Amino acid sequence: MPYRNLALVYDNMMSYVPYQNWVGLIDYIKESQFGGRDISLFEIGGGTGTLGSILSYVGYNYTGSDITPSMCSAAWDKGLDFICADCRNLPIKTNFDLAIFLFDGINYLSSLEEYAQTFREVATILDLGGCFLFDITTIYNSRMNFDDYMEADSYDTGAYIRHSFYDPESRTQRNLFDIFVKEQNSEKYLRLEEEHVQHLFSVEEISSVVPLDLFTIEGVWHEFAAEPVKATAERIHFLLKRI
Ligand SMILES: C[S@@+](CC[C@H](N)C(=O)[O-])C[C@H]1O[C@@H](n2cnc3c(N)ncnc32)[C@H](O)[C@@H]1O
Repeated sequence: MPYRNLALVYDNMMSYVPYQNWVGLIDYIKESQFGGRDISLFEIGGGTGTLGSILSYVGYNYTGSDITPSMCSAAWDKGLDFICADCRNLPIKTNFDLAIFLFDGINYLSSLEEYAQTFREVATILDLGGCFLFDITTIYNSRMNFDDYMEADSYDTGAYIRHSFYDPESRTQRNLFDIFVKEQNSEKYLRLEEEHVQHLFSVEEISSVVPLDLFTIEGVWHEFAAEPVKATAERIHFLLKRI
């Protein structure tokens, strides 16, 4: 399972990520879709709860989830209301105003049928008028930045090496990780390997499987701005509204 081991170094690895950009986008949706009133928020693929911690801190009524137990465990350590759950089968009975699935977690779905299934599941946990915000990483991003790309870093507690490849034929982004974690009371490091495969579908393909009896497509946005997508988009946000 991707992220099982990466959870050990994830927060260090993502320390460069501008999570504040997503808070800005969520604030914008709160104003534009909910008239600025307090909203309840459910995060899918919430990882180690970094965004959840910020959203809770700034006053959102937040519940999070992730499919990977070790990521959930890190979110629990941050004191978050968080459950282990797969977006394709959400074990939730409560309804929320806004569901989010950010930082291209949805690209781990391997087929458009899985996207459709996820949309149907999310519809069951939203109030009418509620919204679903998710983002995808793009083919442009893979071609420009992540084909035969390498990075590595080390910290007090561990280290990682990442090697990434884009395959245009299958439209998959493959990320291979070597993760080194310091053993307790020892100078030795445990080496763990992990492979992540993300699937890159186009805006048109994803839009075509949105169930239009459950959602309207309110926005397809260029990166973090609520503006039309340009060919150079590395990230695209979708905002669906429950009807
Ligand atoms: C790139 S990480 C982003 C994590 C977090 N949103 C963040 O911003 O740091 C993608 C996350 O999606 C989760 N994920 C992948 N497939 C999933 C699924 N089917 N259902 C729920 N979460 C999933 C992974 O476990 C991982 O934590």
